[in-house]
Amino acid sequence: MVIEISHLTKQFKGKGGFVDISLCVAEGEVFSFLGKNGAGKSTFVRTLLGLLHADSGEARLLGQPIGHVDTRKQVGYLPELFQYHAWLTGYELLYNHGLLYKMAPKEIKARIPTVLKIIGLEGHDQKTIRQYSKGMKQRIGLGCAIISDPKILFLDEPTSALDPIGRKQVRDIIIDLKNEGKTIFLNTHLLSEVELISDRVAMMDRGRILKTGTMKELLQAPLLLTVGNVREELVNRLTAFDGQLKRTPQGFELNIENEEVLPKIAAAIISSGGLLYEMKRKDNALEKLFIDTVGEEDAR
Ligand SMILES: Nc1ncnc2c1ncn2[C@@H]1O[C@H](COP(=O)(O)OP(=O)(O)OP(=O)(O)O)[C@@H](O)[C@H]1O
Ligand SMILES: [Mg+2]
Repeated sequence: MVIEISHLTKQFKGKGGFVDISLCVAEGEVFSFLGKNGAGKSTFVRTLLGLLHADSGEARLLGQPIGHVDTRKQVGYLPELFQYHAWLTGYELLYNHGLLYKMAPKEIKARIPTVLKIIGLEGHDQKTIRQYSKGMKQRIGLGCAIISDPKILFLDEPTSALDPIGRKQVRDIIIDLKNEGKTIFLNTHLLSEVELISDRVAMMDRGRILKTGTMKELLQAPLLLTVGNVREELVNRLTAFDGQLKRTPQGFELNIENEEVLPKIAAAIISSGGLLYEMKRKDNALEKLFIDTVGEEDAR
C-alpha cells in the first residue's frame, strides 16, 4: 500500500480537523475525499504532508512514517487556493520548486520540458504567472507538484475554481498521471470530478469518514423500468430478480447489481406480455448518495 492510515486524528483545540481516520490507498489508485466545506479534507492532507502534527494514530507514505526525508521527493502537493509569485515566469516557478525538492539544477532543466508537455503549457513558460489565465495557473500548480516526478500526488481541489473547459483540461492531466502509474489522492466537493476520475471515494463530514467504496459499489443506482400491460406473471418474473422490487406509477424500481442480468430482465418482461418502454439507471445517483450520507444542513 502506498498510503496507510490507521486511526489518525488531528483537531484544533479539540475542534475541527478530522477524527479517527483509517484508510489505505494502493499504488496507481485515484482516491477521492468528497466532503462539504469544512469537512476536514485539507487538514487531513496537510497532516499527511507533515505540515500539521497529528494528535494520535499512525500514517505511512510509501512505507515510511510521515515527514520522512527520503519520501519527500516522492510526494507532490497541489495546495488549495495557492498564490504563487506573480512576477515569476512559469519556467522560474517550476525551477524554484525543483530546488525546493533538492533537485540538482541539471536535473531540473532536463525535467522542465517534460512537465510543460504534461501540463500543456509548452510555449508559455516564459510568460509571468500574472499573465496566466486561472486555468493556466492551476496547471502550472500541477507542474510544481510533479516537478520531482513523485510517486504520490496530493491534489487539494484542483479544479474547483475553473470553468468547464479548464476543469476538463486538469482532469485529463490527472487521468494521464494515473495512466503513468501515479497514486493520486484528491480532495474535492465536485461530484462530477469524483465520478469521472476516481477509483475509490470516501465521503467525509465533520472530520469523519461516513462511507467508503469503489465507484461501482457506491453507484448501485436503482434500475427504473417503464412498462405497460403489467400482469401478475410479469410481476412474479421480476420479483425473481429483486425480491424487494417497488412498483412505481410508470412501472418498477429494482436493485440490480449485476449488469449482465439486464437483457434477461428485458426478455422476461416481453415474454410475459409486458410492453417495455424504457430501462435506465436512476439519475444523480452519486449526488443523492452524498446528500443522504452527509445531510443537507450547513456545518460550516
Ligand atoms: N488552523 C486551524 N485552526 C483552527 N481550526 C481549523 C484550522 N484549519 C482548519 N480548521 C477547522 O477544521 C475544520 C476542517 O477544515 P478543513 O480546511 O480541513 O476543511 P475542508 O474540508 O478542506 O474544507 P474546504 O472545502 O472549505 O476546503 C473546519 O471546521 C475548520 O474551521
Ligand atoms: Mg479544503
